[in-house]
Amino acid sequence: MTGRCQNRVMGIGWRGQRVALVPLDKSKHMDNAWRWVNDPEVTQWLLIGDYPTTRAMEEAWFDAHDAVNPKEIHFAIETLVGLHIGQCGIHSIDYVSGAATTGLFIGPPEYRGKGFGRDAATVRTHYAFEVLGLRMLYVEVFAENEASIRNLKQLGYEEYGRCPARYWRRGAYRDTVELVLTREKFSPQVQ
Ligand SMILES: CC(C)(COP(=O)(O)OP(=O)(O)OC[C@H]1O[C@@H](n2cnc3c(N)ncnc32)[C@H](O)[C@@H]1OP(=O)(O)O)[C@@H](O)C(=O)NCCC(=O)NCCS
Repeated sequence: MTGRCQNRVMGIGWRGQRVALVPLDKSKHMDNAWRWVNDPEVTQWLLIGDYPTTRAMEEAWFDAHDAVNPKEIHFAIETLVGLHIGQCGIHSIDYVSGAATTGLFIGPPEYRGKGFGRDAATVRTHYAFEVLGLRMLYVEVFAENEASIRNLKQLGYEEYGRCPARYWRRGAYRDTVELVLTREKFSPQVQ
């Protein structure tokens, strides 16, 4: 991971091999993010769920993240030529325990399954451990979300629990899988 300016098209953010994690920019990222959080294909297994997000709600979300909040870090995911393809974050950061939870989605379907999610999660994990100095990341994922579970396990996340029928989602109570990654188990994904 490097934060140095190597690409004149984009030039900011934490860069991996395929993506850069860049600060939120309402003028560039809000319309896409609003579309994606209202796309049932994207939200199917997201914990934010299927509640309809109005444009005003999305604006308020972006505005709320325009202030420094050390407990919540949000990035837009861009390709190395500056195309916005998703969002990711490190949430509920507990600096005393050195722990946080994470989330990530790739919006356009044509960018899923091509290693962008894996690269974004790798850069995010470097940021969490090396920049924030955390020691542990944990996450709760729907058991049906094979892409996410595979992605996380490739990084070294280990399953530590399951909760049966945790959430009602799309016509059924669904199980969740709980996974944890410690700094020692992190296996950066180089493609
Ligand atoms: C989950 C998500 C972030 C993964 O990112 P991605 O760019 O699509 O995945 P990658 O191409 O990096 O692939 C990572 C691994 O998952 C596997 N994978 C990708 N899509 C898959 C699918 N639909 N089913 C099963 N495995 C899948 C890949 O094959 C790869 O494993 P491999 O190297 O053994 O082949 C992305 O698909 C997404 O945004 N989904 C919708 C939102 C979501 O569910 N977010 C996670 C919430 S916890």
